[in-house]
Amino acid sequence: MSKGLFITVEGGDGSGKTTQLGYMKEFFAERSVDVIFTREPGGTAIGEKIRDMILDPKNREMGGMTEALLYAAARSQHVLQVIGPALAEGKVVVCDRFVDSSIVYQGAGRGLGKAVSVINDYAVDGVMPDVTFLFKLDPDEGRKRLRQKEPDRIESEDRDFHRKVYDAYLDLERSHPHRIIGIDGNRDPEEIRVEMISYLDRLLDGYSEALVK
Ligand code: TMP
Repeated sequence: MSKGLFITVEGGDGSGKTTQLGYMKEFFAERSVDVIFTREPGGTAIGEKIRDMILDPKNREMGGMTEALLYAAARSQHVLQVIGPALAEGKVVVCDRFVDSSIVYQGAGRGLGKAVSVINDYAVDGVMPDVTFLFKLDPDEGRKRLRQKEPDRIESEDRDFHRKVYDAYLDLERSHPHRIIGIDGNRDPEEIRVEMISYLDRLLDGYSEALVK
């Protein structure tokens, strides 16, 4: 079975990953690579409905485990309907957040620990990223950047929550040095873009002509 390339993009709220995802889209478009860009929670009709439910600031009563299960449910549908089939066709899949987000936000932020890994083992069904770009920005700085927009239910969490999320990302980076590429997000976006593109260039070289239309 042909196997594509699965890239995920991670970072705290306000870390600048959306800007860099825009640059990544330009990069792949210029190289005519067969790529799909998708996101979590979301990426399917069912996943987008779950996203609205999870992020709605009005859902104040939602429990941590309910939240973790909803993220995992959206992920399971996403893997089944979008990510799995695209990889089987040999495509490049770029996903804005994946299971690492659940490990840090629900596992560390909500304090659910190992239960989150267990639930997500079912959700991902063996599909794990080949490479993960982690945009690292101190959460206090991230919060400042978010001030312009209305916060969703997760963004509205307190400083302590976002600090736990950030620290858990750094732990993940340390425990998965071959998969996770940590990028210092506290720099000019153009400087960050150049670093990210140099990694992408090397990555695509390794994946050769099979990926190029
Ligand atoms: P986004 O703002 O990057 O689209 O992500 C939506 C929010 O959902 C963000 O605050 C991170 C959070 N999140 C989790 O808490 N757990 C998860 O598994 C995912 C995918 C996102």
